Amino acid sequence: MANNSLAYNEVRTLRQDLWWVEPMLVVLGLGSFIVYTTWAALQGAYYYAAPYLSPFYSPCIATNCAHVSLPIIGPWWSLSPAILILWIPAGFRATCYYYRKAYYRSFFGLPPGCGVRDITRNYWGETRFPLILQNIHRYFFWLAAIVLALLWWDAILAFRFPNGFGIGIGTVVLLANAALLSLYSLSCHSCRHLCGGYLDSFAKAPARYGTWKVVSRLNEHHMLYAWISLIWVGLTDLYVRLLAMGIITDLRII
Ligand code: FES
Repeated sequence: MANNSLAYNEVRTLRQDLWWVEPMLVVLGLGSFIVYTTWAALQGAYYYAAPYLSPFYSPCIATNCAHVSLPIIGPWWSLSPAILILWIPAGFRATCYYYRKAYYRSFFGLPPGCGVRDITRNYWGETRFPLILQNIHRYFFWLAAIVLALLWWDAILAFRFPNGFGIGIGTVVLLANAALLSLYSLSCHSCRHLCGGYLDSFAKAPARYGTWKVVSRLNEHHMLYAWISLIWVGLTDLYVRLLAMGIITDLRII
């Protein structure tokens, strides 16, 4: 029984374990990634080291790009070309069901952990503006799928060196990046729903049921893929950046 002299909202938690470690790590991890990505995206430089294109700038759709993927935006665009494209993966991650849980808990304390009281009292779930906009995630899934296809194309181009076919460390880095982002996207809750989650009867759609089962297995590890792909995409940009700056050289395997 709670002590009557102690107001309920003063009892923040009775938990004795280190419940605050996880939200603290999320703040550090996500916060560092956001700061680095913003800095790298606004640079507008050192994002291409032939044949490697940083994933933060792919597809490069402005003619002011160091390596134009699709010349959609004319020379009137003078800002960093990353701004034109990065809102898609950023929107996909920001509205991701896993990240929502992670940053609601860690950044806003809603609640910081199971059995821990909310920091603020005015959380209404996702039933009102602006959080109701999180439902846009299913559409970001399609946009992110297009970007992902182009990242695979970049990984293929990473085999094409000025002197012909080759494999460098950067080739492996870009391939791993596309593969990890694929795992993250395929394990998405929206993807699972699209594959068959919305069906009333699996018996009438065996192919969809098979796909749904595979995606469901991936979905169990969505948090893991979210973090690994997040870290790797940042490291991929860093690798290309250091190459473009001349700080490191790419090791050719073949
Ligand atoms: S739920 Fe995480 S990417 Fe869709």
